[in-house]
Amino acid sequence: MRQTEMRHSLITAAGIALALVGLAVVGMGVVKVVRTSQVDGAVALAPSALETQIAQAQAVQAVQPVLPAQSAQGSAIALPPGFPPLRVADDNPPTPAGIELGRHLFYDVRLSGNGTQSCSSCHIQALAFSDGKALPTGSTGEAILRNSPALVNVGYNATLTWANPALTTIEQQALIPLFAEFPVELGATGHEDEILARLAADADYRARFAAAFPNQSDPVTWHNTVLALASFVRSLVSGNSAYDRYIAGDAGALSAAAQRGMQSFFGERFECHHCHGGFNFSASTVHANSTFGASNFQNNGLYNVDGAGGYPMGNRGLYEITGVASDMGRFRPPSLRNVELTAPYMHDGSIATLEAVLQHYAQGGTVTASGPNAGDGSANPYKSPLVPGFEVTDQEAADLVAFLKSLTDEDFITNPAFSNPFAP
Ligand code: HEC
Ligand code: HEC
Repeated sequence: MRQTEMRHSLITAAGIALALVGLAVVGMGVVKVVRTSQVDGAVALAPSALETQIAQAQAVQAVQPVLPAQSAQGSAIALPPGFPPLRVADDNPPTPAGIELGRHLFYDVRLSGNGTQSCSSCHIQALAFSDGKALPTGSTGEAILRNSPALVNVGYNATLTWANPALTTIEQQALIPLFAEFPVELGATGHEDEILARLAADADYRARFAAAFPNQSDPVTWHNTVLALASFVRSLVSGNSAYDRYIAGDAGALSAAAQRGMQSFFGERFECHHCHGGFNFSASTVHANSTFGASNFQNNGLYNVDGAGGYPMGNRGLYEITGVASDMGRFRPPSLRNVELTAPYMHDGSIATLEAVLQHYAQGGTVTASGPNAGDGSANPYKSPLVPGFEVTDQEAADLVAFLKSLTDEDFITNPAFSNPFAP
């Protein structure tokens, strides 16, 4: 019974967070929503984003060449050189035992109501914790309208999920796949006590909960389950791609093609870096030293179903939360680290390949010729001015894709610490 109450208080916290959104966006300072005009300002201030980025990365490394990989909070999470300290919830400092418990829970189908799904059903390590599908299906067969995102450096994301400014911690976010009823993912609602009983019946879990949450008389709780899951997700840090080795001084790490693609990516004709910039290739990044959450939502011209800027029902982005017309179709620019592995792309998985993504941007948006979503996304009135379209040769397109593929981190997708502990 206590567990159920705990679950309800967690859920209520999430409900309150969701209810806060309207306020946040109206400017309560809870969440800073960067408007397009501010992004425009950034254009003028960025003479050579690539040079600045490389200089910054090298400066950070010069200052802390051999610091142990720990965050400002003394976290148990190893950080690559040049990464800023992770933002960590005060009541959930990562510990090795907590992360390891979270890893077990992440891969455990006993966490779903009907015992058929785990987090890893939709977040697969070999695919940088995305799932290779356009849209996933929940444990009870319900269709989910959003693409399963990669889980890469999630601890640095200013907001969680594709378009929700109120979800700012991984702890809050974890409640959704666990308990959401519209649509059902793991479907724990109605099975709260049963699921905890399954865990508590397992001596290995009893020991793991006790190690992760010492000095608690009854540590097998939903609260602790959520904290451990969040710690594991936060530990999924990726920063050893060919690009990272190049930035660190290994000139041979990038092919000539990838180097040319990098120039385009950070250049002012392609504009990619304005929304996918910084060490995490996302404009929506916070860390322990951030003074505010740099949340950022942009319309990149994917749809225009009614000729007036509309996006398909159920997938209208920030607008669904704020009701503000100009928020139609605005989504969080995802990190592009490991993007080679996370196809199909966009919030609804509607673009199959990186080549097609590049074509989308070259055309200044996507034209959907027929069907219920027909329309010319490039003419969407809410589209960011940073997606104007551009001329691109086949060679330049191939180079840019080569650069995006240089963001793949083989260590990340093979790291045993992130793998399925129940695998035979
Ligand atoms: C049925 C598929 C499915 C399952 C099961 C699932 N997820 Fe997800 N996950 C998604 C989808 C879809 C989204 C994006 C939701 C949205 O944007 O509204 C998401 C988003 C996330 C995010 C946000 C990532 C970011 O960068 O913003 C995290 C973190 C996450 N899931 C963790 C988990 C954890 C932990 C579990 C298990 C408790 C889990 N997921 C179970 C499909 C799933
Ligand atoms: C105005 C901001 C903006 C600019 C400029 C921009 N993007 Fe994006 N990008 C986004 C947003 C927002 C999304 C998610 C849109 C959605 O799902 O509807 C996205 C999605 C993507 C994705 C899909 C990632 C995934 O995991 O599904 C890729 C790949 C991508 N962009 C690459 C690029 C490249 C390459 C460029 C430069 C040619 C670029 N972007 C320019 C904002 C931008």
